[in-house]
Amino acid sequence: MSFKKIINRSDMLGCVLCADPPCSSVCKRGIDAGRLLRSIWFSNEEYASMTLPEHNPCIGCDADCEKACVKNRIDPDDGICGVHISSLISKLYEVRALPHDVAGVDRIDFSCLKSDICGIPIDNPFLLSSSVVASTYDMCARAFEAGWAGACFKTICNFPIHECSPRFSALMSDNNSFIGFKNIEQLSDHSVEENMNIFRRLKEKYPSKFILASIMGKDEEEWGILAKKCEDAGADAVELNFSCPNMADDGLGSDIGQIPELVEKYTSIAKKACSIPVIAKLTPNVANMSPAAEAAKRGGADGIAAINTIKSITGVNIHTFISEPSVHGKSALGGYSGAAVKPIALRFIAELGLNKNLHGMHITGMGGIGSWTDAVEFLLLGSASLQITTAVMQYGYRIIDDLKSGLALYMNQKGFKSVADIVGAGLDSFYLSTDNLERDSIIYPKFNSDKCVGCGRCMISCSDGGHQALTLSPERKIRMNPQKCVGCHLCILVCPQKAITSSGRRFDKHL
Ligand SMILES: Cc1cc2nc3c(=O)[nH]c(=O)nc-3n(C[C@H](O)[C@H](O)[C@H](O)COP(=O)(O)O)c2cc1C
Repeated sequence: MSFKKIINRSDMLGCVLCADPPCSSVCKRGIDAGRLLRSIWFSNEEYASMTLPEHNPCIGCDADCEKACVKNRIDPDDGICGVHISSLISKLYEVRALPHDVAGVDRIDFSCLKSDICGIPIDNPFLLSSSVVASTYDMCARAFEAGWAGACFKTICNFPIHECSPRFSALMSDNNSFIGFKNIEQLSDHSVEENMNIFRRLKEKYPSKFILASIMGKDEEEWGILAKKCEDAGADAVELNFSCPNMADDGLGSDIGQIPELVEKYTSIAKKACSIPVIAKLTPNVANMSPAAEAAKRGGADGIAAINTIKSITGVNIHTFISEPSVHGKSALGGYSGAAVKPIALRFIAELGLNKNLHGMHITGMGGIGSWTDAVEFLLLGSASLQITTAVMQYGYRIIDDLKSGLALYMNQKGFKSVADIVGAGLDSFYLSTDNLERDSIIYPKFNSDKCVGCGRCMISCSDGGHQALTLSPERKIRMNPQKCVGCHLCILVCPQKAITSSGRRFDKHL
């Protein structure tokens, strides 16, 4: 495994990751270009490189894949596709030339992905999280066929659901992926009986897939009634939704998650009503999650799910003055999810993972997982299973291919034999408070003159947002004054050329 990133999303210039990609089926040499491009997008280029034949099939090839690209439909006469597929495949050969700890895709051992939720075995740690992505029989069945280990079904309730239109808005990156995603969606709009019927059918057809039944009671008694019904319909475990930001009106949803006494009371009612594991899904709309998590434990919960979405406003239209999404000229707070919330989700997962009072509880983590590398981060901080919605909403169930193969390859290379070996492995080196960190040494930045174009961006940031340690000479060379540099590394982060790195050497500040 190499830390060197030879290829990434920005190299994919214009690839739209289309459905049933024509580039997948036209190669005379049998290369599935669409599948390779998808792996590059999802940081799984090392695995992709291992699936290639020994010699680069693109050399001397007339690139039928590029001609077949859907991008040519915009200007068919041009005949030039926006995506340089053959040069991307050639870059994968550069990735393959790096030293690898596992030789060839046929050597990858996928059995390391086997895991469990509260003692119940699962094929891999990846589940759909409770939302629209897991809201019908057909959707869950397709996800299971695609390789997901299970699904947390869309929250079941016994009160009328009336959804708005539109109900989503997003902050977009330049490459059209969601940075963050806001929803104002409520709960399952199927009746309880319809949903129980779905569970029975899913369990009959897919007995080894994990069905996590998300529920929300409208009064004390109903938490127990719903939990028992889900158990009787074949659910493997129940997830108590104490955290939906869009169901707060009558003391429901995230209002519960903010009040530990209610968390304990409703958990205890659900736990007494059924004999399957009970998991409390908690809200991130709190200062700390431990009080609610410890309350769930006192109520008998077997696990904690985190995070649900974060109350948010994604944007205000500066011409109409209406926030997004506009529903008949009005808007409201909604739940934020996707890549932007990952740092906040990881913070809560680490808080739970470090809390000794929660020892032995299963943590099922979510919030911004889109690639296998995100998954590893959640596992390292203590999540033992992983749930995903937003990335599935944008890219579909097919992301499971790269989640599984990327994670298995990483675990093989690092010598992890099972998911349990990796869970929490990043907690020993993490404190919740910065007070505990060492403050007596400094690591200076290192400037690579071969890559530096003398733009001076590092100097601007250091002057106006740092400690005035950098100067730009008339020849446009950067000079660092070690007397002034505090080793904050802002220059590394702002350099557009990636010409600045950490020197890696720690100096005693007091010498
Ligand atoms: C459209 C949408 C609907 C959701 N509905 C529910 C729900 O019914 N119950 C629930 O517990 N969480 C619900 N969630 C929250 C997700 O299960 C998940 O906790 C959150 O989106 C963070 O994960 P992600 O970044 O992978 O999306 C919903 C999220 C979205 C985006």
